[in-house]
Amino acid sequence: MNDLELLLLAARAEFEAAPTPAELENAKARYLGKSGRVTELLKALGALPVEQKKARGAEINQAKTGIETALQARRDALAAADLERQLRAEALDVTLPGRRRGTGGLHPVSRTIERIEAIFGSMGFDVAEGPEIETDWMSFTALNNPENHPARSMQDTFYVDMKDASGRWLNLRPHTSPMQVRYARAHAAKYAGELAQGRPMPEIRVIAPGRTYRVDSDATHSPMFHQCEGLWIGENVSFKDLKVVFIDFVRQFFETDDFDVRFRPSFFPFTEPSAEIDIAFRSGPLVGRWLEVAGSGQVHPNVVRAYGLDPEHQIGFAFGIGPDRLAMLRYGIDDLRLMFDGDLRFLTQFN
Ligand code: PHE
Repeated sequence: MNDLELLLLAARAEFEAAPTPAELENAKARYLGKSGRVTELLKALGALPVEQKKARGAEINQAKTGIETALQARRDALAAADLERQLRAEALDVTLPGRRRGTGGLHPVSRTIERIEAIFGSMGFDVAEGPEIETDWMSFTALNNPENHPARSMQDTFYVDMKDASGRWLNLRPHTSPMQVRYARAHAAKYAGELAQGRPMPEIRVIAPGRTYRVDSDATHSPMFHQCEGLWIGENVSFKDLKVVFIDFVRQFFETDDFDVRFRPSFFPFTEPSAEIDIAFRSGPLVGRWLEVAGSGQVHPNVVRAYGLDPEHQIGFAFGIGPDRLAMLRYGIDDLRLMFDGDLRFLTQFN
């Protein structure tokens, strides 16, 4: 074996032994670099007699080509190994079962509100929504609850660190009753022409569900809770209509006739007379207990005035239902806090 054959073997062995592309390039430099062994051999050609130069030069070039081929082969092998490693790291096992995305579902309170909307919708009630940050006037004054009146402390209101145009603190609405005022005022404005000419105005019939807030927290009170306001105003709407509508609602909501209803005299500044509405089932797990489900009453004339209407002509009733309460009764839930903890073990039971 001559020196060139040995050189080729040595180069091949070194290339094969190089574990990384960087080390392979170092090995390449030792043979093909500026002072590599092949380069040195070519430089040495100059010292040979002319007749030997040609043959030796051809042999060296042949060895050089062999070394280059070996180098390229090792480069390809290292690249292929690298690709292989990468593919294995990102391997997909297509035989594994897929990970399912949960389908999600409605919160029991949302379901209850949808139910309330559907039932009152079938009785011709519109559905309205309003702001959770309210002005003092909307939450209290317009509802016949004047500043400094003791009835204001019935609601432990959260205040917002911001004032309205009249310099009064904004509040997180403690009830949905401001929606009576907002909706009725918009209605009155819409039919201002009819009203000015003494012509009849379409009745106001609306429910307004939403979040409400009070400084209150225990098993039956949450600082954030829900209410659904109801309002029916017309030329001849009376407490009797409230009874009919509400009892029909309870019947549809609980899908039973087997209950008693009691309108228990109460006080709200915005209604006169006022009543808490209690129901008691005659059968089932809740039998015999009076359960309070709503506040209600004939809208106070001062409130009708705040609507922008004339209480000599427009009268009616309002009520405020607690959807959280209704959901608890319907589903047999005993702690209100479960509703708002967001625990999936609880929530998935309703879907
Ligand atoms: N706003 C009252 C409350 O929060 C409920 C209510 C609404 C009472 C409408 C009468 C009429 O308790």
